[in-house]
Order: sequence, then structure tokens, then C-alpha cells
Amino acid sequence: MIMRKKVFLTRTLHDFALKELKKKYQVEVHTGKIPIPQTKLRSKIKDADGLICFPYDVINKETIDLAQNLKVISTYSVGFDHIDTEYAKEKKIRVGYTPEVLTDATADLAFSLLLDVLRRVSEGDRIIRDGMWKVIYGAHDYVGVDLQGKTLGVLGLGRIGMTLAKRAKAFDMKIIYHNRKPISKSKERSLGVKYVSFERLISQSDVISIHVPHTSETEKMFNMKTFKKMKKKSFLINTSRGKVVNEKDLVTALKRGIISGAGLDVFEKEPIGKSHPLVKLQNVVLAPHVGSSTKETRVKMAQITVKNLNLGMNGKKPIYSVGY
Ligand code: DGY
Repeated sequence: MIMRKKVFLTRTLHDFALKELKKKYQVEVHTGKIPIPQTKLRSKIKDADGLICFPYDVINKETIDLAQNLKVISTYSVGFDHIDTEYAKEKKIRVGYTPEVLTDATADLAFSLLLDVLRRVSEGDRIIRDGMWKVIYGAHDYVGVDLQGKTLGVLGLGRIGMTLAKRAKAFDMKIIYHNRKPISKSKERSLGVKYVSFERLISQSDVISIHVPHTSETEKMFNMKTFKKMKKKSFLINTSRGKVVNEKDLVTALKRGIISGAGLDVFEKEPIGKSHPLVKLQNVVLAPHVGSSTKETRVKMAQITVKNLNLGMNGKKPIYSVGY
């Protein structure tokens, strides 16, 4: 009897995806505590040929070292900062991820947070639900900020940053950006964006939207020093990774009016609870890490995750592959 290859999932996926996997492999899905405890992940990875994981599952060197048969790690995310991709490459383990299909959804969410925090939509909703809307239509009531004519600073003008820039353009915002390397002049012209240094980006923007991955270079790059260089009336939007921002400093900056507000989909440690200091602030819009969470996008991500896994299981490069 031919033994089927083993695939382990650290959490369930769509039925169609599981069905497809079960046609080919011996599939096991973790159903307990989320994230899967490291001890369980480590025991399961030992004899797995393929692993499907999520952006909070830490797949480090020690975990990879336990894997005897692992051919591919397929993450249900565009981010792969939870995986030691360098070490996986050394061990000739393929790593697949899911960019492109979630670009629009994530840019939409970033723009929603931007609109919401500038126009105080969620705050107004809270005011009504809490029974605090007592007096009709005053000249100074719940005033927000116009988007038109304001400068949006995009940190990391990749796929998502560019898509956000297009959204912002339609609202007549000016767009500046900072990347490690500027994009081509013709692309800059067609998008209507201007390259600036990081220092200029933070000092000239009315809204900054973060679209860089979490790496040792970007870790906590938004801290009190950064906030103090930003305009007092500016806003910070983060849909990338929470660890790019020093959250403690952000809370202080928001409390003291060093910056005006923030729209956040990601946090240093997720999920955050009711007692988190950010929850107490009115000038913040919070989302539970849902950048890519639309029905259509999540289905496409599952399709890519399975395709990436299948390719890796057959010794081929995933459609979207990191490193090897
Ligand atoms: C990703 O794909 O990395 C996102 O953070 C999930 O929404």
C-alpha cells in the first residue's frame, strides 16, 4: 500500500480547500486553541510533508529543525515574517505565500480606516449608541478633516501602497512615498506620486499609511522620535504589521496630541482586549486584523495556499514563493 503524504494545517480552511487536499494527502487539521501551541506544532511538523500555516504561527529555526520530511510551508497570508524563510531555503523547504489576490481588499481597508478616522465615523457611531447625541447640528459638532488637498505619505509603495495611492488620488489627495528604491519615473507619473526621503515623508504628510513588511529594519520604526517629527494634525494608518510601530509610544503620542489620530488593523500582540490602552482613545479607529478579509479575497487566498502547497509537495516552486 502506498502511504499518502502528510499535510498538517494549523487551522481550518474553506471546505473546498480541505476537500481538494484530502483527495491527495493524509490531512490533519488542528482544531484546538488558536494559535496552535508551539509544543503541538513542533510535534506535528516532525513527520509532515507539507504545512499550511497562518501569519501568527511562529515557524522558526528550532521548529524547522524538527521537520524530517517537510517539503513546503504554505502560509495563508501575504506576510511571511513569522517564518524563518532564510533557514527554510537552506533546508530546501519551499515557502509559498498569497500576495496580489489581497491587494485590493487590503488597500480598501487602509482607505476605510483613513476615511473613518478623518471623518470620525466610528466615533459618531459610538456617540449615538452611547446615547450622547443630545443636540442637533452645531457649527463645531464632531468636525472632521477634509481629504481633498491633503498629503498622503505612503511608506512602502508596493502593490498595496500603489492601490491605496489610486484610491487617494480619486479623493484629490497629493501622494508622496518612500521606498528603499524609488519606482520608475514613468510609473511615478502615471500614478501621480512623488518620491521623498523617509524624513520628508514623516514631516510633510497629513496622513501616513504603512505598507512595509515587519523586518529587523522596520521593527518599531514608528516611535516617539518619529511621532515628534510628524505634523501635530497628522494621522497614522497601519494595515501592515503591528510591530512596525512602538505601540506604547503611539498611545502617548495620541494622548498628548503629538499626532491627531490613527487607524489600525494590526497590533504588536493580537488579539487586543477591552483593557488595551488604544481602546480607551476616541481618536483611534480599530479593526481586528481584517485587511484581506472579504469573502472573495479569502477564497482566492485559500486557492493560492492549496496551489502553493501542491507545487511544493511536487518539488516545484510555488506560484508565489519566498527564497527557494
Ligand atoms: C497577511 O496576509 O499577511 C495579512 O496580514 C492578513 O490579513
